[in-house]
This record gives sequence, structure tokens and C-alpha cells, in this order.
Amino acid sequence: MTVCEYKPGLEGIPAAESSISYVDGQQGILEYRGIRIEELAETSTFLETSYLLIWGTLPTTDELTKFEDEIRFHRRIKYRIRDMMKCFPETGHPMDALQASAAALGLFYSRRALDNPAYIREAVVRLLAKIPTMVAAFELMRKGNDPVRPRDDLGYAANFLYMLTEREPDPLAARIFDICLTLHAEHTMNASTFSARVTASTLTDPYAVVASAVGTLAGPLHGGANEEVITMLEEIGSVENVRPWLENCLERKSKIMGFGHRVYKVKDPRATILQNLAEQLFEKFGHDKYYDIALELERAVEEKLAHKGIYPNVDYYSGLVYRKMGIPTDLFTPVFAIARVAGWLAHWKEQLGENRIFRPTQIYTGSHNAPCIPIEER
Ligand SMILES: CC(C)(COP(=O)(O)OP(=O)(O)OC[C@H]1O[C@@H](n2cnc3c(N)ncnc32)[C@H](O)[C@@H]1OP(=O)(O)O)[C@@H](O)C(=O)NCCC(=O)NCCS
Repeated sequence: MTVCEYKPGLEGIPAAESSISYVDGQQGILEYRGIRIEELAETSTFLETSYLLIWGTLPTTDELTKFEDEIRFHRRIKYRIRDMMKCFPETGHPMDALQASAAALGLFYSRRALDNPAYIREAVVRLLAKIPTMVAAFELMRKGNDPVRPRDDLGYAANFLYMLTEREPDPLAARIFDICLTLHAEHTMNASTFSARVTASTLTDPYAVVASAVGTLAGPLHGGANEEVITMLEEIGSVENVRPWLENCLERKSKIMGFGHRVYKVKDPRATILQNLAEQLFEKFGHDKYYDIALELERAVEEKLAHKGIYPNVDYYSGLVYRKMGIPTDLFTPVFAIARVAGWLAHWKEQLGENRIFRPTQIYTGSHNAPCIPIEER
């Protein structure tokens, strides 16, 4: 057997062949099924984009209407899931609540009929439909309120904002939120997608696939970074403090949240779109002083770290957008998960198409024939 070079973090090692999305990290290009992200953000909706990612082509009007109707029909969650969620501690992180609830769906719907296209479609619809309801339900229940029922007259993004805030959603905020979902829907072989594919390769049910991916997304080096960006901007506190704060951070060799990417060595194209969306929100709903801090930090980091290819990533401006919409900081990553479910499901389906269980190797660095010393002699 050939001995391969070990690459920490599997950097540069392909884990699958995939036709779902493509990133050119040098030029800052992201495509879903060959279509540029800028075009999808401008002209498509999250559900249309999800269809594209999962089934490989843009839907016709009839196909899209049917898909949207199925999702609208499945938005509600069973009272037993709601009751289970009521028992979660309100101090628990919403990502943990989401992971547990996503896994619990498998108790109700798991049949593992993975060779049946109708089962695949049903699972796709259920997960896309119910994850936002579960995120909103946990938010209301941890505040001591009953969750609100999804509203059939509202689109996917507007309905989520309504379930979360219990207020009529503003049309601009709903459209911008829908674009945010599109931007976060898929991103090649990142950690949570890899996790989803590994889980999928065992032929377990799709709810377990999504639950494992949610757990992976929760970490601060992955989806959790958008939450940490806001904490960081609050800690910096003022535009004047940006440069001293950065100097201190670099001296301590700490990572600056929302910057850097394994693949992008230029500004993430999604960050550029999100920055523009943030500005549209500030224009309508008032300025956010943390945006000025963010702009100054971007300039300062560019001066110091551009030579290493460190630029804002998707998480840098998304938090400011969600904050302006009144979404609590610890829901930023669950919101990321609502979007990324589309990508995880696309990879689940692709993995099933050419499945071979993931079973990499390792380079053993331990000892051999070690003595098993009796406990009283240790
Ligand atoms: C995303 C991330 C995990 C990628 O990590 P990676 O591909 O393993 O890159 P590395 O951590 O090896 O970084 C390479 C170099 O850039 C530096 N670097 C990377 N991200 C940095 C950041 N956010 N702030 C400061 N320096 C950074 C590293 O210190 C390292 O420098 P060195 O070569 O002098 O040691 C990393 O950039 C990071 O932790 N960013 C902050 C968290 C974040 O925003 N995550 C969301 C990603 S979408």
C-alpha cells in the first residue's frame, strides 16, 4: 500500500467528486451548479436555489410552485417535538437545541428507504420546512412564550422572521434575509458538509446526517464565527480603538474572527454581497455604529495581513445584517444552519448516488507491545 503524506486538516485532499458547487479562491468566485452566486442572489430565491442544489437544475414554474407548496404544508412540527424542546434548558445554546431537535425528527420519520426517490424528496421537504420552525420555536420557548404557528400566506424567509419576532415582517428585511439564506446555502467540502457526507456514507437516515452536520457547524472556527464577530466588534467598542486592539490581537497571535479562509485568498464574494445588504438595511432602519468599526477593522487587517491572503469571509458582515433584523446573536449560527441544510441535503443525495463508506487511514504514532501494568503498580 502506498504511504501518503499526512496533511493536517486534510488541506488540499479531495474527499469526493461533486458537481454541486465550485469555489475559485484566488479570483473570489463561487458557483452553485455552475451559476455565479451574484446572479442567484440577485434573481433567485432560497427555495429555488435549494431545488437547484439538490436536483441539479433550476425548476420550472410548476416544479417550483409544487416544491414551495410541499414545504409550506410541512412547516409545522409535531407537538411531541415541541414538548421535548420545552424541556431543553433555556440557557442552552440554540445550536445544541437544533441538533437535538433535528436528530429527534428521525424518531418520527426514519425509514431509511434510501433507494426510493419519494422518500428522498419527503426527507428534503421535511428538513427544509421544519428546521426554521424549530429554531424559532426554541427562541420563543426559552423566553417563556408559546411558539407561533407558521403562516401559510408568508414566503419561506418572511415566515421565519414572523415566527421568530411575532411581528409582521418588513418586505425589505424578508427579501434580504432570503438572499442571506441563498448565500449560505452551500460551500463545497467545508467541515460540516464533510461531516454530513461521512454520516451519509453509512446509509443512516437523513435526520442523523443533518444532526451531525449541525454539530460540526456549531464550532467557532466554522459557523460559530459570525456570533464571535459581533462579540469582537463590541469588545473593540470604538473606531479609535480598532488599531490598538488589532496590534494587541496580533501580538497575542489570536485569530481575528470573520477573517481568513482555507480556500479564499481574496475577499469572499459573499462578504461583498452581505456588506451591500447591510448598507441597504442601515439606510432603511438606521445606522449601526458597529458597522463603522467593522469597516475600519477591515482596512486595518488588510494593511497588516493581506500578504497572507487574509480578508473578510462570509461571517464578517452577516452578523451585522442579522443584528439589524433583530435576530439574537446566538441565533446567527442556527440561521446559518437553516440555509446550509440545502447544501447538506444536496451532498447527502450525491453521496448516496455513488456511495462508498468513508474509512480513511491514520498514521499510528503510539508504541507497540507496551506492558499492561497492574493498577497497584502504576
Ligand atoms: C477559517 C480558518 C479556520 C482557516 O484556517 P486555515 O486554513 O487552517 O488557516 P491557518 O489557520 O493555517 O492560517 C494561515 C495563516 O494565516 C493566519 N490567519 C488565518 N486566519 C486568521 C485570522 N482570522 N486572523 C489572523 N490571522 C489569521 C494564521 O495565523 C496563519 O499564519 P502563519 O502562516 O503566520 O502561521 C481561519 O482563517 C480562522 O480561524 N479564521 C477565523 C474564524 C472564522 O472567521 N471562521 C469562519 C470561516 S468561514
